[in-house]
Amino acid sequence: MKEKNQQGETILHPIPPLFDKESRILILGSFPSVKSREAAFFYGHPQNRFWKLMSRLLSEEFPETTEERAALMHRNHIAVWDTIASCNIVGSSDSSIKDVVPNDLSIILENAPIEKIYCNGAKSHEYYKKYIEKETGMQAIKLPSTSPANAACNMDKLIDQWKQILIPLKIAPAGIGDVLVRWYDYNARILPWRSDPTPYHVWISEIMLQQTRVEAVKKYYERWMDALPDIASLAAIDDDELMKLWEGLGYYSRVRNIKAAAITVMEEYGGQLPANYDQLLSLKGIGEYTAGAISSIAFHLPKAAVDGNVLRVFSRILAEEGKINQSKVKKTLEKEVLRVMPKERPGDFNQALMDLGATICLPNGKPLCEQCPWESVCQAHKMDRECDFPMKEQKKPRRIEEKGVFLIEWEGKIYLHKRPKKGLLAQLWEFPNFEGAYTLEKAREKIESWNGADYKIHSMGEGKHIFSHVEWHMTGYYIRLLVLSKKMKNLIEEKEWILVSKEEVENTYAIPSAFEAFRKRI
Ligand code: ADE
Repeated sequence: MKEKNQQGETILHPIPPLFDKESRILILGSFPSVKSREAAFFYGHPQNRFWKLMSRLLSEEFPETTEERAALMHRNHIAVWDTIASCNIVGSSDSSIKDVVPNDLSIILENAPIEKIYCNGAKSHEYYKKYIEKETGMQAIKLPSTSPANAACNMDKLIDQWKQILIPLKIAPAGIGDVLVRWYDYNARILPWRSDPTPYHVWISEIMLQQTRVEAVKKYYERWMDALPDIASLAAIDDDELMKLWEGLGYYSRVRNIKAAAITVMEEYGGQLPANYDQLLSLKGIGEYTAGAISSIAFHLPKAAVDGNVLRVFSRILAEEGKINQSKVKKTLEKEVLRVMPKERPGDFNQALMDLGATICLPNGKPLCEQCPWESVCQAHKMDRECDFPMKEQKKPRRIEEKGVFLIEWEGKIYLHKRPKKGLLAQLWEFPNFEGAYTLEKAREKIESWNGADYKIHSMGEGKHIFSHVEWHMTGYYIRLLVLSKKMKNLIEEKEWILVSKEEVENTYAIPSAFEAFRKRI
């Protein structure tokens, strides 16, 4: 391999290129130093700052061994090689290099989706331009050398120049987590569940906050904690009373799951939520988001809590073009959340992200970038493309169901019906209703088929309710029965309608807000 001559030695590059089929950028040095040649790996001289720089830029631990260094590069989709395949060199001196034979980069470029090429130092860039650029057809970006010979460029200057490699890598810049928690120290919203963030308080508030606005949740949360101050009282509450506490919040399976989980916590965890992400995740109704929120806010564990708001913020920061409803994209964004999370303040960081998403990095229209602590690092903002992110798969349009809703009064009381055990609004109480578009004429026909002409009817107008996959378009009728025909009695028995007072409709039976437009007419 070596051939002595007067000035130096002719040496073949002894290290194979480091890359894989997911490498997105390529970093090229000029030629390995003596130390690197001995170690048969890149940047082996202890004074070379390459690995320290990488660990700082990538917010990862300093990689000590060759295996750790290679793994760090693979994990972050960085390929590493040099511009020179063989040359005559004295020791490690770049300036002594002669008789250059350039490397053939096609082995990397044909097998990895390299978007950008960077040169570590001026020499590498000089050889790239001279020998390689015309072969690849790609320009390379010159970055200051990490070599000890370039001591004039300190670590801060290196970071400032090299941080551009993070953009094609879609890696969140180091240090932005600290900036965000500092912002949160002065800008956190004052919310009832934040004053005493016990695991129970965090759990209930997070479940209520799913699909429901903060302002709407506040009063439900306070009323819930007055009625059910601990997990034991929750596990023991009667179902109808529990439903009444939730009435109007929607997505009622959430509250049924809460009670089921409370019973498990009483039976298996002595009444205390476990301080363990996987155990939390195993509880009914606690998914990755909620387990992450409880772990980080109540137990100070370094776990992410990634919901739609957080995905929006990170997809803008990184200008992520992938669709956020794809699990692969969600996973990569979650990795970036964890990368920049200050590990000593995970709960504050997650809540700061929630506040940033709710108050500044707004959906549907231009966000308030001039107030954002991350304005200077946001790639979407730099391109003036905030509203292009997050990218999403187009949702299927919602199915529309038409219904006639009947408030039927008999002797001052109202009929209710319990919905089936399974499906939408399972087991909640509702006013009798029937599928189809109900004109006054059609509603009359229906009542008359049960109860002859002994009734009064008036229209209550229209009501609409939007669920995630379905829209109910309803027409309501108020029907006062003057007599109760035998046929009507039979029907009521067969359909298991119950007759309750107007006060009970108000205070005892949980009626979903889908019927609110009609309920208020009682
Ligand atoms: N949205 C979801 N969780 C939240 C929280 N803990 N605080 C404010 N908004 C939220």
